[in-house]
Amino acid sequence: MPTKIEKDAARQAEAEAVRTTGHEWDGIYELDTPLPKWWVYLFIACVVFAGVYALLYPSIPYGRGYMHGILGYSSRDSVNAEVAAVDKQRAVAMGRIAVLPFEKIEADPELREVAEIAGRTAFANDCQPCHGAGGAGRPGYPALAAGAWIWGGHLEDLQATITHGIRSSDPEARESDMPRFGADRMLTKAQIQQVADYVWTHFYGHSESGVDTAPGEKLFADNCAPCHGDHGQGEREVGAPRLASHVHLYGDARETIVAQIVAPHEGIMPNWNKRLDPGTIKSLALYVHGLGGGE
Ligand code: HEC
Ligand code: HEC
Repeated sequence: MPTKIEKDAARQAEAEAVRTTGHEWDGIYELDTPLPKWWVYLFIACVVFAGVYALLYPSIPYGRGYMHGILGYSSRDSVNAEVAAVDKQRAVAMGRIAVLPFEKIEADPELREVAEIAGRTAFANDCQPCHGAGGAGRPGYPALAAGAWIWGGHLEDLQATITHGIRSSDPEARESDMPRFGADRMLTKAQIQQVADYVWTHFYGHSESGVDTAPGEKLFADNCAPCHGDHGQGEREVGAPRLASHVHLYGDARETIVAQIVAPHEGIMPNWNKRLDPGTIKSLALYVHGLGGGE
């Protein structure tokens, strides 16, 4: 066991072997240990790297400008160039979508993807306000996902509807006209109630006890079947909606049927050929077709 004196002597010897700065306070010495070599080299490497980087790339600001660097690199330029390249690629794809038949577009995965994005975006911007999200429809604005088409759900039908509109100002717009049976006194009030009863119970599928639908059936055959069909199946040629269905343009209530017979709404679907390019219109046709009711 070393004594206290021996321990102190050993500590003294150890201290003398170490370099100090010569500063000493109350027996406490300031050591003069050199920095580790690895640290010094790393430090020098960082300084050199920073200097070279500052010379090559945009770096030190001054006044309103900054040092642009020898390489002339700019992250904004490179983003702009990337955006321009994507735009150009998209424009080429949209040009091809505009001219190719639908089968060719659907068979090409790249075109299909561009059409899918263009269709979804345009639908959200231009169609959703009237037709609802996902083409769910609402009173007066037909559902586009239900397969209950007034004018047809083939891709070409959709393209024509979207391009020229319905009762729009376009010369090739789809036109259809239901007579104003009430407003123009073609049917009496009582007859309108009778034919509405028949449509509501027989085609819309509601049951109302004690209603005699025979007079309504006769009125329907005489006045309505020429457009809506004997079985209420509708007629696309004249844009007369299917009545034997659970999807209705103006809702399911008996009063809406009466209102329609008195004075039809005849909603307007804008023609989009003035506002959208042919590629976007075809993309929309594909998108609407894919909502669930496409034919
Ligand atoms: C201002 C409201 C409005 C906007 C916006 C609108 N539509 Fe329509 N759309 C209608 C109305 C109203 C009808 C039904 C017309 C009728 O009575 O036949 C219709 C009918 C349709 C039909 C025919 C449905 C069928 O059953 O045959 C399609 C397809 C259609 N719209 C697609 C679109 C697309 C795609 C867009 C977006 C580019 C769009 N609509 C924007 C009001 C609108
Ligand atoms: C000349 C053709 C024609 C005749 C005749 C006709 N309709 Fe229509 N009907 C239409 C058209 C076109 C529409 C869609 C018009 C609209 O959007 O206002 C329609 C819409 C309707 C609707 C709304 C359907 C829905 O989905 O909400 C009802 C109900 C209806 N007709 C009932 C009748 C009844 C009842 C008669 C006979 C008294 C009749 N129609 C005669 C063409 C006709």
